[in-house]
Amino acid sequence: MLKGRHLIDPCEFTLCELEEIFGLADSIIHSPERYSGICENKLLASLFYEPSTRTKFSFDAAMLRLGGQVLGFSDPNTSSAAKGESLKDTIITIANYVDVVVVRHPREGTAKLLSKHSPAPIINAGDGGHQHPTQTLTDLLTIRHYKNQLNNHCLAVCGDLKFGRTIHSLVLAMDRYEGVNFIFISPEELKMPSYIKESLRNPYVETNNLDAGIASADILYMSRVQRERFVSEDEYVRLKDYFILTKDKLQEAKKDMIVMHPLPRVNEIADDVDTDERAVYFQQTKFGMYVRMALIIKLLGLE
Ligand code: CP
Repeated sequence: MLKGRHLIDPCEFTLCELEEIFGLADSIIHSPERYSGICENKLLASLFYEPSTRTKFSFDAAMLRLGGQVLGFSDPNTSSAAKGESLKDTIITIANYVDVVVVRHPREGTAKLLSKHSPAPIINAGDGGHQHPTQTLTDLLTIRHYKNQLNNHCLAVCGDLKFGRTIHSLVLAMDRYEGVNFIFISPEELKMPSYIKESLRNPYVETNNLDAGIASADILYMSRVQRERFVSEDEYVRLKDYFILTKDKLQEAKKDMIVMHPLPRVNEIADDVDTDERAVYFQQTKFGMYVRMALIIKLLGLE
């Protein structure tokens, strides 16, 4: 039962509950008109304490396409946070006005904290370098679409594995499926955190060689170096172009491999990859809207 639940970490939902969301997303993709008024008279608050294009716009588009309405901010300085109001007081107030709240914040654990004070479902839209659950729902729906299932894949994740919250959420979520193995491709300075590696039940290897990683992957998940999480700008500049995926490099990849990226892209995928049929990162953004439509319906108990 997903009605009234918060989404803080995708692993808090069972595999059956995730499949319910994906099944509904499939249904929305095939018959969007059936769902166009389902959220009439419902309000979604969208609280973005960090910049966003995809997550904010796809949530807004999702709610509007369902017939609901959206209010909120993408600059917290326009709210009473600028006068020193606490997050707790902010959420207790806003939860009085709306039916569901989406929040992105630079500090790890913020969505969890807000969920303790909110009667309305809280959806974590990214908390610092920790987790990004709705990106993971997007990623799983995309993999399920192109690969027909979520079991038995070699998933290579490449880039900033230290700070990349989309990577952390995805790896932990994919580890729940059978027959999955991971290739962690990163510079030494941006390796996957130990707490994640130690929790995995499926096998993984680590490398700093993109070419070696590409050859055996079924899914190549690229990510940008997370400039906003670096203490030193010089260190960021030194590492930011460590990996650049080009069309030439894809010659070594399987013909049915897919290339994913949560976006935004900075420089880690060359533009010439966009026309390769294995590049699915822009289609991925569309799956993000559909899966968020399904999530909103489920959390509001409207199906
Ligand atoms: N993938 C993602 O979270 O993109 P935005 O930062 O643009 O929302």
